[in-house]
Amino acid sequence: MDLTRAAAAARDDTDPLAGFRARFTGTDGDGPDRLLYLDGNSLGRLPAETPAAVSRVVEQEWGRGLVGSWRDWVDRSRRIGDVLAAGVLGARPGEVLVGDSTSVDLYKLLVAGADARPGRDVLVCCADDFPTDRYIVAGVAAARGMTVREVEAHIDTGLDLAVLAEALDERVAVVVLSQVAYRSGALVDLAEVTRLAREAGALVLWDLSHAAGAVPADLTAAGADLAVGCTYKYLNGGPGAPAFLYVRHELQEQLRQPIWGWFGQRDQFTMGAAYDPADGVDRFAVGTPPVLAMAAVEVGARLVAEAGIDRLAAKGQALTGLLIALADEWLSGHGVTVASPRDAARRGSHVSLAHPGAWQLTQALLDRGVVPDFRTPDRVRFGTAPLYTRFVDVWDAMDRLRAVLADGAHQSYPTERARVT
Ligand SMILES: Cc1ncc(COP(=O)(O)O)c(C=O)c1O
Repeated sequence: MDLTRAAAAARDDTDPLAGFRARFTGTDGDGPDRLLYLDGNSLGRLPAETPAAVSRVVEQEWGRGLVGSWRDWVDRSRRIGDVLAAGVLGARPGEVLVGDSTSVDLYKLLVAGADARPGRDVLVCCADDFPTDRYIVAGVAAARGMTVREVEAHIDTGLDLAVLAEALDERVAVVVLSQVAYRSGALVDLAEVTRLAREAGALVLWDLSHAAGAVPADLTAAGADLAVGCTYKYLNGGPGAPAFLYVRHELQEQLRQPIWGWFGQRDQFTMGAAYDPADGVDRFAVGTPPVLAMAAVEVGARLVAEAGIDRLAAKGQALTGLLIALADEWLSGHGVTVASPRDAARRGSHVSLAHPGAWQLTQALLDRGVVPDFRTPDRVRFGTAPLYTRFVDVWDAMDRLRAVLADGAHQSYPTERARVT
């Protein structure tokens, strides 16, 4: 690979997705000191269309339409869900719903899934998964007298399917897993895990937070059962944007979620005496959806759909591949190691670099206009969002990191230990 900056610029020139960058706020500066935002997998950038889309809902639908706008709003969670289903998740209409947070959606689908497997008393999760997933699994297990089986995963290369297969037997009700690991970016084979779990009679509940908008999930092709995910990362829905949930059509009537709210009720406005869940994916709703925030989710979902998830994934692999190549070439002599899968087909769109001074390096980068994330225990995580990150952005960020390491500038920052104690 040609690792010159000119080669990176040439790749930007021929990038079929290059035009999307201008459709995000804050991407116009091009000088050598510009901000290099490599944290779009934590909080995506603001699409330029979003303020007008949100204003339209505020000023026209709310401001003028007032309560009458509920005619349009009442099924918006499902209509935006359909946009995500078709353009992002590879699911069918009527299988995806937007609303609540990822944590709450995870809870709802986990309880519903466990109820649908009576007589099974084990929940499986990954020991290295994102905290909210592990906590919710632990909480549901504690409330139901179930056992948690935590499967160990390699911190850098992710879950070994042979290890997962060992943990699957006739006691397992639901397996909770992330398609893309939050720290390393390791990608698991969603279809193969779904097949393994089905063989054991268990359901899989996927957390697609670090995958949605970065890699294809192809839920229908995989026969996936259940999924949830954030919309504020690669879907650029904004801070606190409502999550999505997915339930395979054939499962919907069998499942009943634990929070019996009126938005999940059949003929909601007849105000029936007893809870009677609606048909279809609507039964997984709870209460009044966040209408204003959903306007931003819709813009983000449509942008990803327009770009095409396969093209986004291909660019994500190329951006992360460049980052890894530069880290090997420039940074390995400074004690930096790549802490993500090297096989492009086995990673999402972010890469972590390990270094004993990762916390200090992160602070030094922030002060030099590079925005990564620190992740425990000693990782600097770089998210390359294929909609707006350029090859030269990756090159310049690694160049600034190289300069920090070369002159030891990070050593003047307090250590992580000083931060936590
Ligand atoms: C894998 C994963 N799941 C869930 C969440 C967060 O869920 P919530 O939106 O409920 O805070 C995150 C947040 O970064 C995440 O990375």
